[in-house]
Amino acid sequence: MARNRLPAKYIEGIRKSSQLTKKLLDMVEDRIAEGVTTNEINQWVHSKTLVNDAIPASLNYGGSEDRVPFPKSICTSVNDVICHGIPNDQPLQNGDIVNVDITCILNGFHGDASRTFIIGEVPDETKKLVEVSRECLNLGIEQVRPKNKLGDIGHAIQEHAEKHGFSVVRDFAGHGIGLEFHEPPQVLHYGESDTGLTLYEDMVFTIEPMINMGSYECRILSDGWTAITADGSLSAQWEHTLLVTDSGVEILTK
Ligand code: MF3
Ligand code: CO
Ligand code: CO
Repeated sequence: MARNRLPAKYIEGIRKSSQLTKKLLDMVEDRIAEGVTTNEINQWVHSKTLVNDAIPASLNYGGSEDRVPFPKSICTSVNDVICHGIPNDQPLQNGDIVNVDITCILNGFHGDASRTFIIGEVPDETKKLVEVSRECLNLGIEQVRPKNKLGDIGHAIQEHAEKHGFSVVRDFAGHGIGLEFHEPPQVLHYGESDTGLTLYEDMVFTIEPMINMGSYECRILSDGWTAITADGSLSAQWEHTLLVTDSGVEILTK
């Protein structure tokens, strides 16, 4: 099938914004420690985003009739928070795990990535959750190439998580990204091989598996955003923004 190529400027725009997101996460990785509050991390990222002539995409995002807009510039999801945790004044403690999810808009283009950080010492099973969730992202990325299907990505992730006794969150997915924060398609982190949309060169989307130690069920807190595990078990997540190339994949937020 003939397909119009995206303008190179569009890809270059997302690449630049993704590289800034990566740089912001590197800064967080350098500074995050026991005793730091998630509000402080929010402030670091907010300021450095503006200094780089970009806008934090999460700030005031997603308001509707039944939900206030997201009130902060990044998401910080601690322990049993699956995603969309709101930064606050509570210091991180030894034994916490925290996902920091950053999206910036540079010249109108979005870049989206997250990492899970371990604060101090954690039990081996917690380390394993964080490692396996990272491997899940990488195994998903390995499936990205023209002619493979979205289901190949979901299947690779689900198989790896469940092999280790963990579960894959169903209620949130990866997403197309570009001029909008969340665009089609939805990129599920579970599913069957050889099903779903066929990937093609120039597609840009995220993969961002959320992996729970217990059941995959989730609850949303009354703040309208914070998603927590229904059974109180720990949850970990990693995210990259990806470009499908002629031969495979480019990790734009690497
Ligand atoms: N960054 C998240 C994602 O990966 C979305 C956060 S939306 C917010 O899709 F409003 F909660 F910030
Ligand atoms: Co995302
Ligand atoms: Co994100």
